[in-house]
Amino acid sequence: MAHYKIGLLPGDGTGPEVLDEGLKVMRAAAAKFNVTFDTELFDFGGERYKKTGEVLPDSAIGELAQCDALFLGAIGHPDVAPGILEKGILLRVRFELDQYINLRPVKLYPGVDTPLKDKGPEEIDFVVIRENSAGLYTGVGGVQRQGTPYEVAIQNMVYTRNEVDRCLRYAFEYARKRNKTNTLTLCGKTNVLTYVYGLWERAFHEMGKAEFPDVKREYAHVDATTMWMVKNPEWFDVVVTGNMFGDIITDLGAMIQGGMGIAAGGNINPEGVSMFEPIGGSAPKYTGMNVINPLACIFAGQMLLEHLGESAAAAAVEQACVDFLTSGTLKGLSVSDIKAAGMSTTKIGDWIADRVAQL
Ligand code: IPM
Ligand code: MN
Repeated sequence: MAHYKIGLLPGDGTGPEVLDEGLKVMRAAAAKFNVTFDTELFDFGGERYKKTGEVLPDSAIGELAQCDALFLGAIGHPDVAPGILEKGILLRVRFELDQYINLRPVKLYPGVDTPLKDKGPEEIDFVVIRENSAGLYTGVGGVQRQGTPYEVAIQNMVYTRNEVDRCLRYAFEYARKRNKTNTLTLCGKTNVLTYVYGLWERAFHEMGKAEFPDVKREYAHVDATTMWMVKNPEWFDVVVTGNMFGDIITDLGAMIQGGMGIAAGGNINPEGVSMFEPIGGSAPKYTGMNVINPLACIFAGQMLLEHLGESAAAAAVEQACVDFLTSGTLKGLSVSDIKAAGMSTTKIGDWIADRVAQL
């Protein structure tokens, strides 16, 4: 019997509510496949910060690093200035645990609406691998003469060869394992950001030629990537890109797969501890109302199970979600759709957990 320790970071707003449902469904799948979990609660977020001034103490990093995986609800509190919790919790965990991959499947499930005309689940099914530990997010910089007309602001995009190589290697291996069209597209900006994306492009082709001759290599500038994601999403299999571009194109990805209510992501350290999260925000105005859609968090739980090597349990979660999405229970994924259907956060979790048990 496999046993895992899962660190829980419910966070802010509706984070705790969706995490409960994600966990409920994960437990249902675990019970079926002889997997057990211990959980450890890390209650960092806006409320704790307001009470104690503590964002994420150093000691917590060591404790998080002892878990087999981490499961996060949402970070962001209306009473806390933007950036404090995002940088102090989410980004800090990513950096300190060296979760250098942000894995974002862009998959349109049957029964889910996409704003793209004439595109369906056949066309929208790719994965974005965003570098998650460097680039503009950690590049050196600073401000001088702030608030004066002579203010200077600098924020550098910095990549080392090693940071690029380890991300590319993960992406090539992922494309090979996914085995869809065996295509890896590098998304860059080699026509302007010639230093940084010049490095990415050279490293991409060198590694591809030497180690992954079976994986087809494509290149697209980031602006063109956003265009193709809307016009011809079926062209993509696996896309690899730097941190900032990845942040931007994955929100576009979330929209074409049905919105923030369904999009999940993994912050992965292939050699260490990884953290899974729904990528939508904390939706503070719906806190405690039991109306927010938990699907994104349930899909994050599915990714967590897959990451632990519990593929059968992960597949059961995915199947149960598909059954829910095609059941006609909801007309859409928004709060008003949930209310209109007489459903709730907990009822959706119950529905999917029951289905997992029946499969
Ligand atoms: C994401 C988010 C974060 C990011 C924010 C909340 C710091 O937008 O996970 O994509 O920019 O990486
Ligand atoms: Mn983002």
